[in-house]
Amino acid sequence: MQTPPGLDLKRCGIFVGASYCGSGELSRKYRPFIFTDDLARRVSNQIQLRTEVRTTSEHMSVRRIGVLTGGGDAPGLNAVVRAVVKSAINLYGWEVIGIEDGFDGLIHPERSHPLTPFDVRGILPRGGTILGTTNRGNPFAYQSEDGPELAPVDLSARVVENVKVMGIEALVVIGGDGTLAIAQEFAHMGVNLVGIPKTIDNDLAGTDVTFGFDTAVTTATDAIDRLHTTAESHHRVMILEVMGRSAGWIGVASGIAGGADIILIPEIPFRVDAVVEAIAKRDAAGSKFSIIVVAEGASPAGGHPLVVGGTSGTSMRFAGMGNWLSDQLVERTDHEVRVTVLGHVQRGGSPSPFDRILATRFGAAAVRLVADAGFGRMVACHGTRVDSVPLPEVVGVVKTVPSDGEHCETARALGICFCE
Ligand code: F6P
Repeated sequence: MQTPPGLDLKRCGIFVGASYCGSGELSRKYRPFIFTDDLARRVSNQIQLRTEVRTTSEHMSVRRIGVLTGGGDAPGLNAVVRAVVKSAINLYGWEVIGIEDGFDGLIHPERSHPLTPFDVRGILPRGGTILGTTNRGNPFAYQSEDGPELAPVDLSARVVENVKVMGIEALVVIGGDGTLAIAQEFAHMGVNLVGIPKTIDNDLAGTDVTFGFDTAVTTATDAIDRLHTTAESHHRVMILEVMGRSAGWIGVASGIAGGADIILIPEIPFRVDAVVEAIAKRDAAGSKFSIIVVAEGASPAGGHPLVVGGTSGTSMRFAGMGNWLSDQLVERTDHEVRVTVLGHVQRGGSPSPFDRILATRFGAAAVRLVADAGFGRMVACHGTRVDSVPLPEVVGVVKTVPSDGEHCETARALGICFCE
């Protein structure tokens, strides 16, 4: 193999063409991951060379892993990426490739680049994801960028091939249900991977909690606190529409934390009559204002959630229930009603300390899982413990709020009405 001038291979963290060296100045910038047949050959030569210079670990001999973030973003994604990079390098001396924009980065691998501890400095408190993400990039039904009118194509074989050629021996896939479902398909095709659960909605099965949820609840609770003061001043009914397509965890948690009077969630179809009665009851008791938290996926009994956009999948967006309810209440009460749709504010911003810690624990646990060859599994939180569960047990299962569970019972005990 031809060594580029000035490059000491024994000191390289990873050698990608001539674009990157793991120590020294070059490592301090993202360098394009030049992906050619020649590169593939050189990468594989390099792996052999590295095997010679490094002592054999008692763990599985993974030397290069990839990490990607898929689906909607959530506060804490960067904290996970940082934990994966730092623990993979600190504990095992592996190389980490950051794959951009979810699985798109494996369809177009030239968008991938090595990540060093330097690259992840300062990202712990940052919202979003430095890797980029998409909730439309399914390689099994890939929508061509040339036009939505073209039929989706299956590019999964290309992804599997690219994983091999890039020398990625294991993938860490950070995502929600959609991304983990895709990951499971790739696991079936023989790709070594582990999953990390992410969603502000907290609706993923197999784990008590996902990172991002605590931050979203904090944001929603802050909104309720702010709405309280202005609602009280104007004797108004304030409706706060929060995220939650099919699970009302954000609604229930923020409603309890913010002291809402009425919480409407997808799991408990509501009656408008019951909402009107609950407001009247508060009026009669001398509280001339009410705070209603409504999840975007809630619906009246016998009705359906309001959606905009497409009719299925990620093109379908839930929106409008807050305004619909407002119209009903304006007609049927004497109150002025105002609606706040919190939207993507819940997904943005700095992760809470809880989410930073959980995300960091998940990232480190995923690396341990790779080291132990626990492929096809997802890291999870059970009580105070972080462990893992098989992906097939969680994919496609929505963790909804039990209508007679402890959260709802607590809310009812406090006089919060679900208006069923
Ligand atoms: O899954 C998280 C979520 O925040 C849902 O609650 C919400 O319906 C959806 O993402 C919004 O996604 P998008 O970013 O595509 O509008």
